[in-house]
Amino acid sequence: MPGAIYAEGLVKTFGDVRALDGVDIDVPEGTVLGLLGPNGAGKTTAVRVLTTLLRPDRGRAEVAGIDVLERPDDVRRAIGLSGQFAAVDEYLTGRENLTMVGRLYQMGAKEAKARAGELLDRFHLADAGDRPAKTYSGGMRRRLDLAAALVVSPPVMFMDEPTTGLDPRNRQQLWDVIQELVAGGTTLLLTTQYLEEADHLAHDICVVDHGRVIARGTSDQLKAQTGGERVEVVVHTPEQLGTADEVLRGFGKGASKIEPHTRKITVPVTGGAKLLAEVIRELDLRGVEMDDVGLRRPTLDDVFISLTGHAAETPAEGEGEGAGAGDGDGTADGDAAAAGAAGRGRGRRKRGKKAADQGGERRAAREAAK
Ligand SMILES: Nc1ncnc2c1ncn2[C@@H]1O[C@H](COP(=O)(O)OP(=O)(O)OP(=O)(O)O)[C@@H](O)[C@H]1O
Ligand SMILES: [Mg+2]
Repeated sequence: MPGAIYAEGLVKTFGDVRALDGVDIDVPEGTVLGLLGPNGAGKTTAVRVLTTLLRPDRGRAEVAGIDVLERPDDVRRAIGLSGQFAAVDEYLTGRENLTMVGRLYQMGAKEAKARAGELLDRFHLADAGDRPAKTYSGGMRRRLDLAAALVVSPPVMFMDEPTTGLDPRNRQQLWDVIQELVAGGTTLLLTTQYLEEADHLAHDICVVDHGRVIARGTSDQLKAQTGGERVEVVVHTPEQLGTADEVLRGFGKGASKIEPHTRKITVPVTGGAKLLAEVIRELDLRGVEMDDVGLRRPTLDDVFISLTGHAAETPAEGEGEGAGAGDGDGTADGDAAAAGAAGRGRGRRKRGKKAADQGGERRAAREAAK
């Protein structure tokens, strides 16, 4: 049986760019899928297709057992979305924003107000609750946007880079909220560029790059797939990086990674502690002074590098203009349900056109809230 979020062969092109190039997804009910990938990988595009905001060129998808293309309105009623680009209404206060969303979901005035109060407390926004959102900091907006996605407790949630821009305390706190939600039975698809986040929150991880799922599994499975351990050496001076790299490559089972700013070299190996001893002897023999040396299991970062040849958290050249609402397919335009459920997002990178498009969604939402 397909999971609570299911997609098969999704393809979406924008001109020459294949944003989705045959993506399959299956998220069992009550679990978290982490969609992990660098800028421009196709994460937001996948979320937009699954949340009915964008029609794929090919493929099909079901959310909560409902066909996304055939019954988008029903899908919208079953989901919550916190988009990558928060679109809280600047001129309303935090409390009014949340109350408005409650009203959009047919809550009574009193209930909507009470729910808004609860969420303001939960996201540490109570003190700022009666100020217009335009006076909020980036992190506060992000939290308000996430709170808005939780006004009703939909069975399926989508969060597009939920913790980007949050400070460590607020990130941790959001992780707690997410874990509570999932413990309560919510199915969640979240996108992230943070390996640590996927590691911490996701039951299953799909690594995406260039619109394709290039690996999937639990964090442990992905790490095991990358194989072996890593020898990590921190040399005493940057001048020694070259020699140390030569030595390590001699022992390595794959490409080495050099981080000049921390004077660290990492290389995949097999052979455990015995091999480590040999590496240390050889480095010593070649006169390399070491500040630190050790053996560790692969991280998700290593997985990513071995799969894609580049790090996950470094934006790829010429990409990273996140998905806009401006592709002109009109699936979401002026649709109040979509605006409430899914029209939130944040102008983190590219404000102009997006802000204008979302203005329309917000106006529709405000009308509907009256
Ligand atoms: N509306 C659009 N018009 C044209 N190209 C688009 C549009 N939306 C996305 N793209 C392109 O599709 C590709 C995938 O974009 P997408 O926003 O899905 O990436 P992402 O994985 O969410 O990246 P990020 O981590 O930067 O948010 C990118 O090359 C992007 O430029
Ligand atoms: Mg994105």
